Amino acid sequence: MRLTQLRLRQFRNYERLDVQFDPGFHIFMGRNGRGKTNILEAIYALATLRSFRGVGSTQMIRHGQKGFFIGGQALSRETHEVKYYWSPREKKLSLNQTPIFKVSDYFGVLRAVVFCSDDLLLVKGPSKGRRRYLDYILAQCSPAFLNELQIYQRALMSRNAAMKGDPRLVDERLVESFTPSLVKSGEKIMEARARLLPELAKTAMEAYETVASGSGEALQLAYQPSVKEDFTIELRKSRERERFQKHTVIGPHRDDLKLALDEKPVAQFASEGQKRSVAIAMKIAQVKFLTKVHGVPPILLIDDIMGELDAHRRAALLPLLENTHQSRGQVFMTCTEKNWTQELSRSPLFWTVNEGLSKIDPDT
Ligand SMILES: Nc1ncnc2c1ncn2[C@@H]1O[C@H](COP(=O)(O)OP(=O)(O)OP(=O)(O)O)[C@@H](O)[C@H]1O
Ligand SMILES: [Mg+2]
Repeated sequence: MRLTQLRLRQFRNYERLDVQFDPGFHIFMGRNGRGKTNILEAIYALATLRSFRGVGSTQMIRHGQKGFFIGGQALSRETHEVKYYWSPREKKLSLNQTPIFKVSDYFGVLRAVVFCSDDLLLVKGPSKGRRRYLDYILAQCSPAFLNELQIYQRALMSRNAAMKGDPRLVDERLVESFTPSLVKSGEKIMEARARLLPELAKTAMEAYETVASGSGEALQLAYQPSVKEDFTIELRKSRERERFQKHTVIGPHRDDLKLALDEKPVAQFASEGQKRSVAIAMKIAQVKFLTKVHGVPPILLIDDIMGELDAHRRAALLPLLENTHQSRGQVFMTCTEKNWTQELSRSPLFWTVNEGLSKIDPDT
């Protein structure tokens, strides 16, 4: 799977960019603030329709403009032409000139996994990031999962809206009218997350062994659903608390993924270095899992981290990069220094980024 062409209009600091990409390693070099990460962000947004920087799409519009456009050609078994326009007033997505109205009809055309310094939030941040980590893997394995998430989200929002206001005036029948849909989609989401875990946990444990080689600790990932047995019964039991808190207090939107090293919770007990290794191991597991399911690796987007990693952790990532290269996939990396790139078995393609992209001639 790869991206053969990228077109940007009014995206971040790019008024206009048209570029073709070969398979292999691409390294974006350039001074700070020139637009290296913005290119990775655009590729990720083309794959997932959102930014990886944890910001809304409005932020990606070039200052003073109404909307941004990202166009691309994705090549897997066949070529797909994707066009994505986003403005607060209008969103347009098309695949091979046909408009797409359901995200699930689009997801999977381009699969990408990003490695960046914010990955540490997977370990240190709130549970939302860990749910998103699981759901993103599931959505990239089965677009139908995205439909369930959307149905759940809609039911949850309607149910919560029905609980607002003076508790004495809440229409109980209205609240309960959303419960069946919440339970039905919620159970499917919990089932999918639970089914994903054993294999993902095993892959993450192996990845941690390589990342923190010789440390001797074992990484455990465990699914922690907020519903313990029966969603319907537990919702009924939580109705008193709901009346008080005015929103749905249990369900997949409250699940977490427990991370532990030798059974001790990572967030509370692990050192900074261990936390970082856990975050990288989780990302490596994501790539390996998707590669196994689809038979080809996703596009890897690596923002800045290579230069900051020590040799051990870099050595854990390198086989992943080599594997992507061997299957004629792509790796896009940003960096300000290229001192580690000789560790790659094949020479990368270097680009200079300065509010535009230009290829660096390997002979210069
Ligand atoms: N919405 C926007 N409109 C116009 N310019 C923007 C927008 N958002 C960010 N920028 C500009 O984009 C530039 C940052 O781009 P980017 O984050 O890609 O830099 P970088 O090359 O990755 O830098 P670093 O090496 O520091 O990570 C900044 O100059 C910033 O002002
Ligand atoms: Mg950057």
